[in-house]
Amino acid sequence: MLTRNLGTQGLKVSTIGLGCMGMSSTYGAADDTASIEAIRQAVNNGISLFDTANVYGNGHNEKLLGKAIKGLQQELTVATKVGIQEMQLNQKRVNGHPDYIRTEIEKSLKRLDRDYVDLYYLHRVDPDVPIEESIGEMARLVEEGKVRYIGLSEASLTTIQKAHQTHPLTAVQSEYSLWSRDVEKNILPYLQENGIGFVAYSPLGRGFFTDNFNSNLANQDVRQYMPRFQDENLIANQKVFENVKQLSQKLGITSSQLVLAWLLQKNSNLVAIPGSKSIQHINENIAASEIILDSEVMTLLNHAFDESNTYGSRYPGVLMAELEK
Ligand SMILES: NC(=O)c1ccc[n+]([C@@H]2O[C@H](COP(=O)([O-])OP(=O)(O)OC[C@H]3O[C@@H](n4cnc5c(N)ncnc54)[C@H](OP(=O)(O)O)[C@@H]3O)[C@@H](O)[C@H]2O)c1
Repeated sequence: MLTRNLGTQGLKVSTIGLGCMGMSSTYGAADDTASIEAIRQAVNNGISLFDTANVYGNGHNEKLLGKAIKGLQQELTVATKVGIQEMQLNQKRVNGHPDYIRTEIEKSLKRLDRDYVDLYYLHRVDPDVPIEESIGEMARLVEEGKVRYIGLSEASLTTIQKAHQTHPLTAVQSEYSLWSRDVEKNILPYLQENGIGFVAYSPLGRGFFTDNFNSNLANQDVRQYMPRFQDENLIANQKVFENVKQLSQKLGITSSQLVLAWLLQKNSNLVAIPGSKSIQHINENIAASEIILDSEVMTLLNHAFDESNTYGSRYPGVLMAELEK
């Protein structure tokens, strides 16, 4: 497995990490025993970056990850997040208050069964708390040895700049895939220039950019509330994706491998954290990190989902409002 530096403070991680969110929530039912086995296999096969958050399954996901990696000898990077409270969608869900961050790190450490978190992200920026205060508290956690590196998720360029002045950022994590390209304009160039790493979340379009995506979503599957997965948007997006699928077949690789290889080749300072509960899928994603695409394929993919042929927004309106522009 290839590795890349995240930021310039010395953190090196596998180019393909593992997003653990779906093991506790979001995309339908999961089985803890199978998830723990999948995490351990991922470690054996070279994945060193594991992504979770306090809010995934209300703490369940951190606990599961902690249990899965307990006692393993490999050097692993555990990334977790704070800043989204488990609350109803029609209430304020984001909390970046220093007191909240301090309370939550203690709970996360306990659940992860670790003395420190390697990479601690502010999950969303709280519009009611100056970013300097949220990051200031996270910086104190670094001083105290409870956190090694700091990151931000879904933040605007201005916020990233202010945060980076408060304490050096190691990574920014935002959605980035064929159909979520907002970060390319300002964020990625700034991060590259300033030695901050990027972690691409939902790099497989929440499972849409795969060969066997099943649009019959289970009741607990949040994709049913996401505009890109609804009604005529879904049909239109599937039509666009057909070209990508055909291209992957021509190349003799899977769609998910093609999409991941494109992302990694396009940007040298990012790593991707595809989410999976399946050992077979995890191995397939790992193999994508070694695939090299020619310039013609890269160009085709660059234009596969332009703004004019991506149907529906990333999140429903109420969650879109939590993202900084
Ligand atoms: N910072 C944030 O706000 C934020 C938001 C969302 C997610 N995240 C993080 O990013 C991680 C990844 O994002 P995500 O899980 O939303 O979306 P994703 O990685 O784009 O897609 C995950 C989906 O793809 C499927 N999949 C993965 N590899 C596959 C393969 N090789 N072949 C076929 N299907 C495959 C998974 O199903 P199987 O389980 O069946 O493989 C799952 O349903 C999350 O786990 C989480 O840690 C962060």
